[in-house]
Amino acid sequence: MRHSLRGQVDPFIVMDVMEAAARAEAAGRHIIHMEVGQPGTPAPLGARQALAQALEQPLGYTVALGLPALRQGIADLYRRWYGVDLDPARVVVTPGSSGAFILAFSALFDAGDRVAMGYPGYPSYRQILRAMSLTPVGIPTRPEDRYQPRPQDLPDDVQGLILASPGNPSGTVLTVPELSALTQAASARGMAVISDEIYHGLSYADRCHSALEVTDEVLVVNSFSKYFSMTGWRVGWMVVPPDMVRTVERLAQNLFICPPHASQVAALAALDCIPEAEANRTVYAENRRLMLEGLPRAGFDRIAPPEGAFYIYADVSHLTDDSVAFAAEILDKAGVAVTPGLDFDPDRGSRTLRFSYARATADIAEGLARLTAFMAAR
Ligand SMILES: Cc1ncc(COP(=O)(O)O)c(C=O)c1O
Repeated sequence: MRHSLRGQVDPFIVMDVMEAAARAEAAGRHIIHMEVGQPGTPAPLGARQALAQALEQPLGYTVALGLPALRQGIADLYRRWYGVDLDPARVVVTPGSSGAFILAFSALFDAGDRVAMGYPGYPSYRQILRAMSLTPVGIPTRPEDRYQPRPQDLPDDVQGLILASPGNPSGTVLTVPELSALTQAASARGMAVISDEIYHGLSYADRCHSALEVTDEVLVVNSFSKYFSMTGWRVGWMVVPPDMVRTVERLAQNLFICPPHASQVAALAALDCIPEAEANRTVYAENRRLMLEGLPRAGFDRIAPPEGAFYIYADVSHLTDDSVAFAAEILDKAGVAVTPGLDFDPDRGSRTLRFSYARATADIAEGLARLTAFMAAR
């Protein structure tokens, strides 16, 4: 069969790590999972109960932009979380935030356009762009800037900029002045800005700030996957400027028809389950405390302090220049699965690792003990 060039995207290396970990488990080994980028907890109880009650209904297609009550509920969240008064007509419910990226890139860019993003960054940005005949342009960021791009780093001749706060893999957060400076610099150069805010709610000091607090000329992407612990439900959202709603609606109608109806019912109920989401966050906060104490003690001490999400990105250049082999060695000898940085930074990721602390606290403590013993024996 013929193959398109744009279809030749890179694999997600973390998936390979997960497979290797699953093989080790099938062979009877006990593995601690610090590679996964998802909560170990189920969807909030209220969400599951709402769906159980709705199962007798047809659950057919919804309108393309999503259930009106859900769009309203999401708009209300912006008032509660950020003090932003948001017209629900600007909220687009999407099949995960991944679906939002496809809609955003289709609405904003033409084939051949160039879109910038900080490296390290979430790998699917560049792979989705490639699959759509767009060109990803990496901005190498520095640990002293908490792995976030600065306005003076924005490249010339690009049509778009993806910001991520908290970032994956860095967990670092953009402040209001940083969001202002970046969005202003981007718009002065005619770049459209997409702000990935999918880890909002998961921060451990100050609350996270939305790009919508500083400008309306931005596409904000978010999701029920992380804070609401609903990865497999595939429901996210996007907030678009008023003059883009109709374009996005026509794309959504044709690309997806609608987001999964059952998941929208559950997501609507999840909006009322903040205490459960906050209880999960308390667990991550304790995990983060253990990690920030235990990782440096084990020898992984080159990290930019992560303020959000559930990841820690470590520079391991003093230990290896082959993070894939190093991660395989850690899995083999310590029984801890971690992610090589190459997923996040194709240039410098051979000398970095990402540790996730999304699982139970007991697992984190055990993982840290294993990592300490492994490093001491190395
Ligand atoms: C930064 C970031 N953005 C987007 C996604 C995609 O999430 P989803 O499609 O589940 O909403 C992820 C998933 O891990 C992520 O880490």
